[in-house]
Amino acid sequence: MANQVDDSVDGGADDRAREAAIEAALGKLDLDTKARLLAGQDMWSLPAIPEIGLKSLVMSDGPIGVRGVRWTADDPSIALPSPTALAATWDQALARRAGALLAQEARRKGVHVLLAPTVNLHRSPLGGRHFEAYSEDPYLTGVIGTGYVQGVQSGGVGTTVKHFVANDAETDRFTVDNLVPGRALRELYLAPFEAIVANAHPWGIMTAYNQVNGTTMTEHRYLVNEVLRGEWGFDGFNVSDWLAARSTTGAVKGGLDVAMPGPQTVYGPALAAAVRAGEVEEPEVDEAVRNVLRLAARVGILEGAEPVVPPARRPAEIDGEALAREIARRAFVLVRNSGVLPLRPTTRIALIGAAARDARVLGGGSATVFPARIVSPLDGLTAAVDALGYAVGADPSDELAPADKGFTLRAVCRDADGNVIGEGSLPSGQLQWMGADLPAGVTHETLHSIEIKGTFTPRESGDHAFGTRGLGAFTLTVDGTVLYDGVQAMGSETDPFEAFFGAPLERGRVHLTEGRTVEVSLQHPLDKSLAMPLPAVIFSLTHLGPRRDEDTLIAEAVAAARDAEAAVVVVATTERVESEGFDRTDLRLPGRQDDLVRAVAAANPNTVVVVNSGSPVELPWRDDVAAVLLSWFPGQEGGDALADVLLGAEEPGGRLPTTWGSLTDAPVTGTTPADGRLAYTEDVFIGYRAWDRSGATPAYPFGHGLGYTDWAYESIDVTGTTATVRVRNTGARPGREVVQLYLAPIEPDPARPARWLAGFAGVSAAPGETVEAVVELPRRAFEIWDESTDSWAYQEGSYELIAGRSLTDGRVTETIVA
Ligand code: BGC
Repeated sequence: MANQVDDSVDGGADDRAREAAIEAALGKLDLDTKARLLAGQDMWSLPAIPEIGLKSLVMSDGPIGVRGVRWTADDPSIALPSPTALAATWDQALARRAGALLAQEARRKGVHVLLAPTVNLHRSPLGGRHFEAYSEDPYLTGVIGTGYVQGVQSGGVGTTVKHFVANDAETDRFTVDNLVPGRALRELYLAPFEAIVANAHPWGIMTAYNQVNGTTMTEHRYLVNEVLRGEWGFDGFNVSDWLAARSTTGAVKGGLDVAMPGPQTVYGPALAAAVRAGEVEEPEVDEAVRNVLRLAARVGILEGAEPVVPPARRPAEIDGEALAREIARRAFVLVRNSGVLPLRPTTRIALIGAAARDARVLGGGSATVFPARIVSPLDGLTAAVDALGYAVGADPSDELAPADKGFTLRAVCRDADGNVIGEGSLPSGQLQWMGADLPAGVTHETLHSIEIKGTFTPRESGDHAFGTRGLGAFTLTVDGTVLYDGVQAMGSETDPFEAFFGAPLERGRVHLTEGRTVEVSLQHPLDKSLAMPLPAVIFSLTHLGPRRDEDTLIAEAVAAARDAEAAVVVVATTERVESEGFDRTDLRLPGRQDDLVRAVAAANPNTVVVVNSGSPVELPWRDDVAAVLLSWFPGQEGGDALADVLLGAEEPGGRLPTTWGSLTDAPVTGTTPADGRLAYTEDVFIGYRAWDRSGATPAYPFGHGLGYTDWAYESIDVTGTTATVRVRNTGARPGREVVQLYLAPIEPDPARPARWLAGFAGVSAAPGETVEAVVELPRRAFEIWDESTDSWAYQEGSYELIAGRSLTDGRVTETIVA
């Protein structure tokens, strides 16, 4: 049964003891201290209150790793595959193991609460942050999110299920009012949160930046107090998304417990003042404090309260690298295979593509972590095959990116007199210091200027472009030449993270020689007059290598492919395509990658394309190549996992958690608000529900994915609400099948989708073996939200229950009467 209840980590008597400890602690606090506890003391933590034995509660992103409180590579983190990849495993137990590993990572870094999982839905394929969410389907999202939360919390670490709710796109995310019809809200967008609250009992939730139906989510009394806490019984803490809380009274009355980040927030002294002014009742503050103390008690930082998971009951130590590799290969979705895969280790392979060498293993924004190592496809295949050639073919990054390969950088901090007061190491040219996250000996008060300084050893000769990202004054010098000395002013951006996510600007080019090291320096005096919402320094030194003639690059790749027995082309999106902070404008692969694939496929009939993106891209050549493997953002071990799968040591285990199709055919695409509002006019029809209604055929349907064996579906039997599907492995290799069950009303109802996912189960079988997938059909699969009664309404009638390999590949059916 996929969606199982696991409340084994909380117990009644323990809960009562913790509640008593919480009340005792609360009783000792005065109003000012209570108000202070509800406000971030810095970017990531709440204040300690030694009088009641409360330690400082530390939070960190999330979701594919645990960054910790410092944004640097000095303290590396395991980087798992992207959330879309985790969802593609369709495996709750694997999600649970991922969560348990992240709890281990969190404890290692002194983190008590992981800012994850993201369970917003893939409403429009243009959503810039889709790589960080799971699926277009609320049920699948709920199942994976449940496993993840259970796993993290089994290690004694809290989660914040986010972003509550309807933060499904990035455009104007701080202000947009998403107009979501009542049924869509319940049946789609709230559904994963509801399932996770019911099945995983999360200790936290994060309320989103956006508004829903006219009310901003950090003040949404109805959705937070009545639905989440009232109807669903959520008893965890509610933290604002970073800088989302805007009003003291509105937030506290809207059920927001903690305003992050600090030190300047709408809580703290402002909250105490609001109570004294009679605008807020002290019991309302107490309720929020209780929720924070409950979290503290659960994670074991409130004296006198037993943590939910005492050290002795924590999961056994997990090998993070091994798990990252396992999840990656279980997530890879083989959408097309003419039979070319698996390749043999003796096959002469031409590996092609910029992302084959510089792997893109994770998406951009707050989800970024710094792994200790990255195994690229080139690394992974070099280790695994006898004869491998490599050609770049096409470079999709036509924009500058934070200085990375070939750079050795550090940050030199100076005071107002120009004296060096400290130095920090930098993993790349991207510098982001928030709150207390500063090099030893440096404070925001003493810090007056920063210099990103170091060396660059080019891999290629030619004209190298250098630039900046961020706001304020910059002096950029490369190899003794000043390329820029000026000021970048704030434009019309409304996103306070613009310096973080904004476009890099080219400031000049220098001709450099391969292997000859040069000095680089980017000086940045801080503008102390700027009113910042929190003490932070964010700017980047950016770089773009020489642009070689694109036709020549493709010709070189074609020549390499012609000489090889098989060509493996890795195509990818870039950080400027998929990231937090903005939506996509199209679904095309950037640069000349489509031309590259066509040219290579014409030269070698055994062309395998590996698509390295976090969410759907268009694959216009897909029927002209021998195989297409979607690798998502595969995490730090992606290259080894790729070798495992391409060479057949393991089969690719993933199934699509989201429909892949072209933008022109996609039924729901809009992410740009009009007059500040984004109307979800499609109601309950997103993802495959919408494709079914529009009648358009996507490139690959929801649930699709091939392994290396074949399956025969022999029978389906339904007894009560239990469906049993017998499948036989008819191929020559052992394999794993994801048996999917879709429910379709026999009498079509235009107000309902034609069919929807009602359950699934993964089964493994040896060649010739028959196994049973047993799936419990949840009552909710038969219900719709009835707006006239504000309740779920069971829809009696006849349904076809279809078991199959994907939404559109049904193999056995049974008619059931509900
Ligand atoms: C993101 C959150 C994240 C937070 C802290 C916000 O901008 O929307 O998902 O947890 O920053 O980094």
